Amino acid sequence: MSGTQADSASKRSLGTVAMKWHGDTLELLDQRLLPNEERWLSHGSALEVARSIREMVVRGAPAIGISAAYGVALAARGAGRDRWRQDIEAGINALAESRPTAVNLFWALNFMSDILAGCDTQANAIGRLAEGAIQIHEDDIKANLAMAGHALDIMDDKTPFSVLTHCNTGALATGGYGTALGVIRRLHEAGRLKRVFADETRPWLQGSRLTAWELMRDNIPVTLNADGAAGWILNQNEVKWVVVGADRITANGDVANKIGTYSLAVLARHHKVRFMVVAPSSTVDMSLASGKEIPIEEREGLELREIRGTAIAPEGVDVFNPVFDVTPASLIDAIVTERGVVHNPNMTGMKQMFGQPQRA
Ligand code: MRU
Repeated sequence: MSGTQADSASKRSLGTVAMKWHGDTLELLDQRLLPNEERWLSHGSALEVARSIREMVVRGAPAIGISAAYGVALAARGAGRDRWRQDIEAGINALAESRPTAVNLFWALNFMSDILAGCDTQANAIGRLAEGAIQIHEDDIKANLAMAGHALDIMDDKTPFSVLTHCNTGALATGGYGTALGVIRRLHEAGRLKRVFADETRPWLQGSRLTAWELMRDNIPVTLNADGAAGWILNQNEVKWVVVGADRITANGDVANKIGTYSLAVLARHHKVRFMVVAPSSTVDMSLASGKEIPIEEREGLELREIRGTAIAPEGVDVFNPVFDVTPASLIDAIVTERGVVHNPNMTGMKQMFGQPQRA
């Protein structure tokens, strides 16, 4: 996969993609610097990719999974001749340590481990693991395009309406097109979108730095708001749907997503605004019974105490910085994946769509 901007099958724009695979290196757009600077970083090993995932050069559940898969392909190329299998496994282990919440990472690493198990030479592993990573990347784009179609089918509003979204779920967070932002893209393409309210998404500012940037580049009408303004916006009756992505969805339909999603779901229910979660099936983790079992990443306090090196809080103040929360299934109207829609999600609906829960 190169960093193509157009889906060749449909000639649909995929948006600004954030990764380019060159066969022997992986280039990632450094999302820490956006929107001020567009700098691409080249990666030649699994350890470099693992570091970039941890430090959020690349972020967003599907993009993390795809990058990790390319990282495994790089591990195969860099492995020692006599210990190639152990070296690739060490790369997989390092990638698995990078971030804990998005299950797409572990899903992709399991997929790549299964391929590795069927390889009998290093040359074979180099070829097949690269093919596997490209397949994960291409399937993610296909899933995003399919989800947008399913989502529009259930948005029955007759006249153009506004939506509110949180974090960044666009081309930057996926293989291309986006999950929740893919739905928004498709609404715009269909002439059904009035405008998108984008939560700024404190503390890392995925909404203001990335979502606003992506949407403006594609001429999709976007209005940026502080996270604390969301309730008041929903109170005004213009927004018909809150549309968000996910990092992990458990067997009962609970959803882990960017911190602030839970508050938004509570607000949406209070204001009778419908709440949609859009994610590929690689985000579904049927091995966990409920959201209580999802590991929630906490990041360093500096993310709240400073913005780009400038202090915005008293030096040394104690900080609690969970970067994801869990929205209970009872607050969600629809979970949209490429396989279809689970309405009013619960264990029964999830099992019908994704099969029996399997303990890991
Ligand atoms: O910490 P991030 O930026 O990786 O968190 C991203 C999110 O929470 C997204 O909403 C989620 O991964 C879905 S991206 C299609």
